[in-house]
Amino acid sequence: MFDLIIIGGGPAGYFAAERAGQEGLNVLLIEKSSLGGVCLNEGCIPSKTLLYSAKLYDNAKQGERYGVRADNVSFDHSAVLRRKNKVVRILTAGIKAKLTANNVKIVNEKAKILGKTGDSFNIKAGDMTYQGKQILIATGSVPVIPPIPGVQEGLDAGYILTNRSILDLAEVPASLVIIGGGVIGLEMASYYNSAGSKVTVIEMLDYIGGFIDREIGDFLLKEYQKKGIQFKLSSRVTKVEPGSVTYESDGELFTIEADKALLSIGRRPATCELGLEAIGVELEKGRIKTDSCGRTNIPGIFAAGDVNGVSMLAHTAYREAKACINTILGNEDIINYDAVPSVIYTNPEVAGVGETEESAKKKGLDYSVKKLSMRYNGRFMAENEGRDGICKVLYDNQSQRILGIHIISSYASEIIHSAAMMIESKMTIMDTDRFVFPHPTVSEIISDTILS
Ligand code: NAI
Repeated sequence: MFDLIIIGGGPAGYFAAERAGQEGLNVLLIEKSSLGGVCLNEGCIPSKTLLYSAKLYDNAKQGERYGVRADNVSFDHSAVLRRKNKVVRILTAGIKAKLTANNVKIVNEKAKILGKTGDSFNIKAGDMTYQGKQILIATGSVPVIPPIPGVQEGLDAGYILTNRSILDLAEVPASLVIIGGGVIGLEMASYYNSAGSKVTVIEMLDYIGGFIDREIGDFLLKEYQKKGIQFKLSSRVTKVEPGSVTYESDGELFTIEADKALLSIGRRPATCELGLEAIGVELEKGRIKTDSCGRTNIPGIFAAGDVNGVSMLAHTAYREAKACINTILGNEDIINYDAVPSVIYTNPEVAGVGETEESAKKKGLDYSVKKLSMRYNGRFMAENEGRDGICKVLYDNQSQRILGIHIISSYASEIIHSAAMMIESKMTIMDTDRFVFPHPTVSEIISDTILS
């Protein structure tokens, strides 16, 4: 009998397993595919490896701006993919080593909840049935496949790619249509544009980047247009055929020819064939309903990561996993989702935490905005010839509490955690006075914006 059985070995599952093992729980982790989940195998890490090569290539081509001439710079997509696979291999091995060091038993099978006998849950994995006192469901998410004519056929034929297959595309397509201008669409637009594809993004909304602050999203849109990426906004894809994508805009139909198309219109929680109904776990719009400690409606069953559909980010999954394990150990741990930062690893990077202007207006908050151009920042200017960016701070007019911070700049992903800490600690703009930001760093833009 295990103290805890975890289904799914992605960021939520492996992180929870490691923590629980460290705390002395007897843990079984069941994973049907590779440890590391989408994040490590077909998401965050492979895409960041690709994007780093693209950034290096772009920088090399622009070296002259910085007094560095690199002649005959070329891009080797196959070598980029080989390196990506190596990085994934090393990190996957690292996860396995950590789990083993913490006495976690790993089973490589598909798990199904059979039911409960007395105090224990019965989980089937392959030919075996395991008993656990508590269960953590961390099965992640799968891409949304819309009922658009030609999409399923396109996926089957390999003309349409998903977040997974686009990371293993043997050759850079001469032209690529990206369906959906959200996080995956924008990151892949960045890579394939740098790698030499003619990229067109078709987005249903009249803006890109979904949840990000609109002003920051618009800035990114202009930066991307300067690089030659085409955008069709307020446009809905209606049909896909091998070699072309048709979309409707303002009542008219248009067709774009392209060698490949990427489908990136969102992901949905992976709850199928898990046996949730056998045990009565409550779902809401396809996601497992959890409280802010990760508990489901069934005592002893927890859920963390994309499967609860709350935030669908790897770092949220870590936080949720931590909350579940702390709660299992008797230390109720409540997650503050307002302090979860989000990042888009485009070039320039976009990062934000807390309220955007749009969400603040929607909630009717009484707020003000402080805003500064990145051209006031020494480190940014030293490293970004002819470029600009923005830092925005939203704060409450009465309490002066910081409500949100949003940045478009190099290193934005690396500095946003300090903003998240300010929000998690419910700081006012005055509270940040005592912090020292190293000089010269891009991070100083946060304190300079607050002081502006
Ligand atoms: P998304 O939800 O970020 O964006 C999907 C976009 O597709 C939306 O803007 C939507 O308006 C648009 N769309 C939907 N139907 C459409 C249609 N028929 N025609 C045109 N546009 C349409 O989803 P995405 O990019 O697939 O990402 C999936 C998940 O992966 C997200 O939850 C995201 O948070 C996560 N992710 C996070 C990353 C990060 O944190 N850097 C990187 C990659 C993925």
